[in-house]
Amino acid sequence: MTFKKDFLWGGATAANQLEGAFDVDGKGLSVADAMPGGKIRWQLLSSDEFDWTIDEEKYVYPNHKGIDHYHRFKEDIALFAEMGFKCYRFSIAWTRIFPKGDEIAPNEAGLKFYEAVIDECLKYNIEPVITISHYEMPLNLAKTYGGWKNRELVGFYENFAKVVLERFHSKVKYWMTFNEINSSLEMPALSQGMIPKTGSKDQQNVFQAWHHQFVASSLAVKFGHELNPDLQIGCMVIYATTYSFDANPINQAHTMEHIQAFNYFCADVQVRGEYPAYTARLFERNGVKPLEIADGDLELLKNHTVDYIGFSYYMSGVENITAEEVETVQGNMLGGVKNPFLEASDWGWQIDPIGLRIALNDLYGRYQVPLFVVENGLGAYDKVESDGSIVDDYRIDYLKKHITAMADAVCDGVDLMGYTPWGCIDLVSASTGEMSKRYGFIYVDLDDHIEGTGDRSKKKSFDWYKQVIASNGGDL
Ligand code: BG6
Repeated sequence: MTFKKDFLWGGATAANQLEGAFDVDGKGLSVADAMPGGKIRWQLLSSDEFDWTIDEEKYVYPNHKGIDHYHRFKEDIALFAEMGFKCYRFSIAWTRIFPKGDEIAPNEAGLKFYEAVIDECLKYNIEPVITISHYEMPLNLAKTYGGWKNRELVGFYENFAKVVLERFHSKVKYWMTFNEINSSLEMPALSQGMIPKTGSKDQQNVFQAWHHQFVASSLAVKFGHELNPDLQIGCMVIYATTYSFDANPINQAHTMEHIQAFNYFCADVQVRGEYPAYTARLFERNGVKPLEIADGDLELLKNHTVDYIGFSYYMSGVENITAEEVETVQGNMLGGVKNPFLEASDWGWQIDPIGLRIALNDLYGRYQVPLFVVENGLGAYDKVESDGSIVDDYRIDYLKKHITAMADAVCDGVDLMGYTPWGCIDLVSASTGEMSKRYGFIYVDLDDHIEGTGDRSKKKSFDWYKQVIASNGGDL
């Protein structure tokens, strides 16, 4: 058998992208609540004018309603159970627990909600896998404190992490501290709560914010392990296998530096517990001066490293600095250079299953800690046929090839814990705020304006994934 007996097959979501109920039961506003829907989202978050103002006259805010999982989670989890999920990765909306982020006492209604979600999972023997912070920090922390570049956020996060770990450690074994912590190299608004108006274009701030996040993450790991040594607490990074445009050593060296900055830097600190040897060069390239590091920070990072690496893998990228005329792919945030050997999704993400085998070997070879593919999948337009069916063969094909690549990596000797494809139920896209960019095995009848019945139905991939899980990946 290729995959371990207790391999964690499941699916992944994030609170702000599916729960809706954005102002219910004491929840405060998060940065995600201030992100307009539509392809304009990315440009707005990087524009000098954007200041987190919610303008409902001008924009739609799909995250406010999401797919109303807040009220329908029992129905959704029952469907996950029907597919045979062994685990379910979801996040806790910080603003349900601490509405503004800087309170001392938590909001009990928020804790009760997640307790109910966890209990519902456990009812079906589904292991909850929790991301403590997934692109949804309190808006107040972004607006009043300027996001993670402010050291005060360490204490606020620590308070939040302690509350949820304390409350749920007896029921939840698997945790991750920050979703895609390295994404800030491309888009600091999501994970660091920083926009151009609050300094996101100055890399000094991005790296200082990372330092604060590393410290906060280590404090959570320390607290979690002291509370319950059985807990498995991971980091979570985006990994994009990155090729050089050609064999020109100049491009190869450039690609090496890109990989260090994007794929390795955060994981190096969180897994190995220290800033890597190339840090000085990386800072120099980014115009970053030595960071403000408080007494005890470096010891904390060293002594409280993560137990595993959770990572997302959707696509690979190509790096080039020598060729002047290169074809690009629209929408591919990683490099943007077209790889002629690959096809791309409707959103320009280049599909590369072999790249996942390379990613797994690379990460395991470098760190030798267990790996968990906590996001992977194909964002696609789905068509509902006249009989209500959705024949998503393209999604099955994508997932099948990526699972095959994981099986290859396991045969290569990689220690792989599990697989949670992204958006196991259709939800709002993080980068574009669209509903029509669908990843799910379960279709949700809502459009980009969150209009529709909200009814759930099974796509063709639903039964296919059920069979994959039942056969522990043997029957693809
Ligand atoms: C990851 C994020 O980057 O990719 C998710 O952790 C996100 O939040 C997923 O939804 C897919 O990206 P998108 O932009 O297609 O939703």
